[in-house]
Amino acid sequence: MYIKSERFIITDLTMDMCNDYQKNSLDDDNRRFVPDEVCETLEDAEKTLKWLIGSYSTSSGPFVYPIITNENINIGYVQACPLGEEFEIGYHIAQKYTGNGFATEAVKVFLPVIMEMLQIDKIYGIVLEENIASHKVLEKNGFKLIFKGIDKYQGKDRELRKYIFE
Ligand SMILES: CC(C)(COP(=O)(O)OP(=O)(O)OC[C@H]1O[C@@H](n2cnc3c(N)ncnc32)[C@H](O)[C@@H]1OP(=O)(O)O)[C@@H](O)C(=O)NCCC(=O)NCCS
Repeated sequence: MYIKSERFIITDLTMDMCNDYQKNSLDDDNRRFVPDEVCETLEDAEKTLKWLIGSYSTSSGPFVYPIITNENINIGYVQACPLGEEFEIGYHIAQKYTGNGFATEAVKVFLPVIMEMLQIDKIYGIVLEENIASHKVLEKNGFKLIFKGIDKYQGKDRELRKYIFE
């Protein structure tokens, strides 16, 4: 994976990113909205990265790619994760760097590349109702709302939205 955008690149994970990956994952918003993507310790991050790097050579992923700024700062990631036979988009931007349009720009450049790579013509976005910033990221990228209500989210019944991009 190599996508060059104006302010950053999106590329493959490597094991030397464990520290940044772990530190970024501890954000309040990550704990609140995607608690299963938090790595409490460096050992957790090492295990996770090893698994994610191994997943690049599978057909179902998850396919997780770090976002590295032109200043060489690891500010988060974009990803495509399996959703049954289909795929769901995901992203995280470290709290210090949010509010600058990074997630919106990353999703914009990632979508055509990942859809071509996975040979898919649609991808879903599943977001908690209270995660307004994430609704905006999807809506600004042309995702359409297809469900709003209570459904399972990380094993629990939660108020959420489902979006589709096709
Ligand atoms: C969601 C997330 C990726 C957004 O990253 P970001 O780089 O700040 O996103 P952008 O700057 O591209 O866009 C965010 C939009 O939401 C808006 N926003 C941010 N917080 C908001 C809030 N609490 N209420 C309303 N709008 C909000 C911003 O103003 C911006 O909209 P605008 O361009 O119209 O001003 C980031 O907050 C994050 O990583 N959260 C934790 C992980 C997560 O929730 N991932 C998604 C799971 S579905």
